[in-house]
Amino acid sequence: MCGIVGYVGTPAAGGAGVDGTEVVLEGLRRLEYRGYDSAGIAVVAGGGVQTRKKAGKLANLVEVLGADPLPAAATAIGHTRWATHGGPTDANAHPHLDASGRLAVIHNGIVENFALLRAELLEAGTPFTSETDTEVVAHLLGRAHAADPAAGLAAAMRAVCARLEGAFTLLAVHADEPGTIVGARRNSPLVVGLGEGANYLGSDVAAFIAHTREALELGQDQIVTITADDVVVTGFDGTPREGRRFHVDWDAAAAEKGGFPSFMAKEIHDQPQAIADTLLGRTDAEGRLQLDEMKISEAELRSVDKIVVIACGTAAYAGQVAKYAIEHWCRIPVEVELAHEFRYRDPVVSERTLVVAISQSGETMDTIMAVRHAREQGAKVLAICNTNGSTIPRESDAVLYTHAGPEIAVASTKAFLAQITACYLLGLYLAQLRGNKFADEVADVLAQLHEIPGQVRQVLDGLEQVREIARYMADTRSVLFLGRHVGYPVAMEGALKLKELAYIHAEGFAAGELKHGPIALVEPGQPVFVVVPSPRGRDSLHSKVVSNIQEVRARGARTLVIAEHGDTDVEPYADVVIRIPRTSTLLSPLLAVVPLQVFACELATAKGLDVDQPRNLAKSVTVE
Ligand code: G6P
Repeated sequence: MCGIVGYVGTPAAGGAGVDGTEVVLEGLRRLEYRGYDSAGIAVVAGGGVQTRKKAGKLANLVEVLGADPLPAAATAIGHTRWATHGGPTDANAHPHLDASGRLAVIHNGIVENFALLRAELLEAGTPFTSETDTEVVAHLLGRAHAADPAAGLAAAMRAVCARLEGAFTLLAVHADEPGTIVGARRNSPLVVGLGEGANYLGSDVAAFIAHTREALELGQDQIVTITADDVVVTGFDGTPREGRRFHVDWDAAAAEKGGFPSFMAKEIHDQPQAIADTLLGRTDAEGRLQLDEMKISEAELRSVDKIVVIACGTAAYAGQVAKYAIEHWCRIPVEVELAHEFRYRDPVVSERTLVVAISQSGETMDTIMAVRHAREQGAKVLAICNTNGSTIPRESDAVLYTHAGPEIAVASTKAFLAQITACYLLGLYLAQLRGNKFADEVADVLAQLHEIPGQVRQVLDGLEQVREIARYMADTRSVLFLGRHVGYPVAMEGALKLKELAYIHAEGFAAGELKHGPIALVEPGQPVFVVVPSPRGRDSLHSKVVSNIQEVRARGARTLVIAEHGDTDVEPYADVVIRIPRTSTLLSPLLAVVPLQVFACELATAKGLDVDQPRNLAKSVTVE
């Protein structure tokens, strides 16, 4: 939510060389998924600070810059906004200037005590030009700097941060310190990119991946000052701090569309690789499973008596899939809780609870707050995360990284499959450690998991029929999704994808719940997707779902059935059968969800919508 970029380079002789505006614009392009209500840039040049900003997508700012270019500069900051305080207007777009016009600030987060601070500034006669909380910070910083210019911008930032409540990442530049950007972070993301003769700041590494893959992670309540050849980190109190250096294991090409019409199309296509990379190198020489960072002892893991998964959106559906597998393999009860609900219901957690926080970005504020609450209650927290250097893994006791590579499209696809894969690894790890499964049984499931990337590829290769149906259904107003057991979260994820991408009313139901209410929604022509479990599975699950297809068909529904190859039982009741390869029931979500992702993507494209940046959404939701 809100993308932030900062760049300080070395001014070339004669003013030529790398231009700050270009570097920052490129960073903003890669961060636009974090918010696209407005965009703006400030540069320090010619003894002053200049800004350009515009409501709407980045393309609008590019147009403004074309008509009214910024001067060449070696120091620049830029922002792409997801509006919180103040609507998405030109005036509310960042950067914001102080009263002198010599200091500019960009901000991600919410300053919760801004009304009080604004009143104080108004009283002192400070003129405001926007409705944002950010402008308050600009004025406070300007005043603090003016009060003691010799102390510098970093000292002013420290003084101001001490007065701010809430969550914020701030970057500031001042005309008096042309080769410097000062950043601050509390509960919002900020990483440093370490270049040669240039340094960078970004909400995430995508901001500077085209220039460097060396990065520095910052902790909470830290101030960072970058110049072209130096990075200094302190606490809010001024004491020196060390950031953790890390190397980004993907390159700029991984964050490009690579010939696909959208990031979403590319990321759906990337899924076999995302699963394969998440599985890579997980077993040691003796065949034992390995996780990435484990600061929880084996004794503690053996004593776990409950697992609570906390996550939001698609990641929460990955948790729901994981519940079936982990309970089955480990015989530990698993609860799945939306992170924003978790801490408000006084959850029962203890030292014997393992909390699993699933997050693609590692920066979802609701999940961060739930992680903190869980740890305060004495629980151990294991993060399943796709973003190195982000807050959730940093604040957890153990980490299992999903290696899906950068996910740019706002609606999650490849991260979802990688999250489910990581959850399976966790379940198998626990089962092995706690003696619920023998090594050969674990190896058996792992072997099946290693077949999944190839099977996802087969699904992707056979989806022309789904694409056609999606195009044909572009005017549909409502779609229902049914599933049982692991098919239930798959149905909910299918519905979420359609809501997010195509703005169509969609609901996912447990198929057994149908006759307890939702079946009233079915009228002639109503499209209903049904996720059918394997007929080779245990008990009567398969036949129950086949009965559910009959029930909706009898009421005129148009049934689109996802069933495994060779399942002929569904044929008499299906208007369309979408085939997926055979695998065990517990692993089948990794295959069954793929046609639903493609369906939503294709239908939204047919409606002429922007599948990468759906309206009102942002990828990394860094406010509560
Ligand atoms: C937002 C995104 C979703 C994502 C959710 C959780 O709502 O639009 O696609 O599933 O956040 O994000 P996280 O980064 O924590 O997985």
